[in-house]
Amino acid sequence: MTLDPDPVDTETTSGTPSVGDDAARRAAAALVAGLPPSAAVWCSGVRKRYGRRPAVQDVSLEVGRGEVVGLLGPNGAGKTTVIKMLLGLTHPDAGEVMLLGRPATDPAARARVGYLPELFRYQPWLSASEVLALHARLAGSGVPTQQQLDCLALVGLAERARDRVGGFSKGMQQRLGLAVALVAKPELVILDEPTSALDPLGRADVRDIVLDLKSRGVAVLLNSHLIGEVERVCDRVVILGRCNGHSRSGTGPRCPGHRSARRRACRISLEDRLLGILRADQGDDR
Ligand SMILES: Nc1ncnc2c1ncn2[C@@H]1O[C@H](COP(=O)(O)OP(=O)(O)OP(=O)(O)O)[C@@H](O)[C@H]1O
Ligand SMILES: [Mg+2]
Repeated sequence: MTLDPDPVDTETTSGTPSVGDDAARRAAAALVAGLPPSAAVWCSGVRKRYGRRPAVQDVSLEVGRGEVVGLLGPNGAGKTTVIKMLLGLTHPDAGEVMLLGRPATDPAARARVGYLPELFRYQPWLSASEVLALHARLAGSGVPTQQQLDCLALVGLAERARDRVGGFSKGMQQRLGLAVALVAKPELVILDEPTSALDPLGRADVRDIVLDLKSRGVAVLLNSHLIGEVERVCDRVVILGRCNGHSRSGTGPRCPGHRSARRRACRISLEDRLLGILRADQGDDR
């Protein structure tokens, strides 16, 4: 957890700062400066039930600053629900969540997070650049217009900046969603199946964008069913299994390989590990 230096009250009850208060403040600031930064996102023992059906059961995970973590699991395992709880969009029935060192519901933390939802729809009457400008304003950050246009260019929509999003194809809408997630220069980016509608070129663009985020120290949580994609960019994976309607989490192998041989070895183990978990969950002992 990070400590905020500014709420410290330097005044005594008489309204005059005291020497003792000043020394205490300096000592506290030195203590905070020596602490490692809080995780980009952290949760412990989160659970969620919809009616009588458990959607997420006891999931704990952490994404460190500058780390790229993959979130894998079968359909219905609870990946999107976990993401929504991490972002404070869905209230967990139990467990704790911290976002950039603050409670997930704190607007100050959420303003520093970029999020590409699994399912979304922008106002169809707005142009792509208007959608981006709106979200830059919602994030509360003064993003210069040129930076917004650069962001559209990054996702391959420079030519369509003035077009209404109601006329966009599925893949173009997903590209715009990615631009929205990136426009306010977030410290943490959460992508829920960012490439499900993208062509191979778009998928390669997303891979490059994630690697660029990582090189700039931005943390990324990536939910994707494309194991090759996850393997290429992620430092670590978390696997949510489905076990009689319960989800469980586990840490997969590290995938640091930049050399093709290591990458291939890594893919085999990651795929095998994932298939092993999925088959075990379904009582299939192939
Ligand atoms: N709003 C909701 N109301 C009722 N049940 C829900 C709701 N959202 C999710 N669920 C249920 O919670 C479980 C987990 O759903 P979730 O969308 O988190 O899975 P997922 O791992 O993201 O799946 P997918 O890979 O298909 O996207 C499912 O059984 C789903 O039916
Ligand atoms: Mg999902």
